[in-house]
Amino acid sequence: MRQHSPGVIERPEKELLELRQRVQELKRKLNAVVVAHNYQRIEVQDVADFVGDSLELSRKATEVDADVIVFCGVDFMAESAAILNPLKTVLLAESSACCPMAEMIDADDLKEWKGRYPDAAVVCYVNTSAAVKAGSDICCTSANAVKIVESVKNKEILFVPDKNLGSYVSRYTSKKMILYPGYCIVHHRLNAKQVLQARELFPGATVLVHPECRPEVIDQADAALSTSQMIQYAREKPGKIFLIGTEEGLLYRLRQENPGKTFVLISNALICPNMKRTTLETVVRTMEERRNIITIPEEVRLKAKRALDGMLAIR
Ligand code: 13P
Ligand code: SF4
Repeated sequence: MRQHSPGVIERPEKELLELRQRVQELKRKLNAVVVAHNYQRIEVQDVADFVGDSLELSRKATEVDADVIVFCGVDFMAESAAILNPLKTVLLAESSACCPMAEMIDADDLKEWKGRYPDAAVVCYVNTSAAVKAGSDICCTSANAVKIVESVKNKEILFVPDKNLGSYVSRYTSKKMILYPGYCIVHHRLNAKQVLQARELFPGATVLVHPECRPEVIDQADAALSTSQMIQYAREKPGKIFLIGTEEGLLYRLRQENPGKTFVLISNALICPNMKRTTLETVVRTMEERRNIITIPEEVRLKAKRALDGMLAIR
């Protein structure tokens, strides 16, 4: 069991300070904001102007005033920012940071599945490419998936691509859910036995897992929540010890914002290699070279925006 080690890169203090300073200079020079997902390395979260979950980051993208948004996360997140805010330049801090789950479905797969279920509305997890969003009726994130599915008129829902999130939603809706067989390679690694073992080691602890986990893991948890919802839960609920079933990067904020509480990662396999590709060096280089600009064909962007706007309209 892992007690502590959110992705820290060991480097001399002087070097760290120089890199941090350089990011601040570049923010001024480019009139840029740096936004980061909750799973990013500590050093990246520390230079970000805003850190959040996928829903918060999408909302943020519509509010940003700066000319440039430097996105520290994975590609679909930066794409969402570019879809929602076409007048800004969106840079993906690390160009190779992708989401294997998002890559489990492409526009052709979606077309084929839609052909099989012509009466179903397509609800797509935000962890998808712009092209898949463009072929969907509405997007959702882990924070609002139940609400979004309930908001759709159709009785049948084709839910793509995360079968685990889709199965979690099925618990709270009477709609007929058709689940595409995608999954998150990180959360899917967690099994129920590991949760039970963790509970034995920390009797009375509260177990929080992400809805991308398998159903049998969710069965063993006290709550299944998006990353920022976990932060809110830990802040507001009375427990002292929390066993966490999501990517390890979240532990940084959990510990920082709740100094009197203990957070334990349930498994040391909960590391998303793609989220960890971004470092202070990649942020600096991307900003210096103004590289990794996200571009989306306008026809695709407009269709994908409809699906994202539909989601953001639901509070
Ligand atoms: P949230 O932060 O929206 O819960 O998303 C988790 C995730 O896996 C993003 O890739
Ligand atoms: Fe994709 Fe899972 Fe990594 Fe999130 S944690 S970026 S869903 S692989």
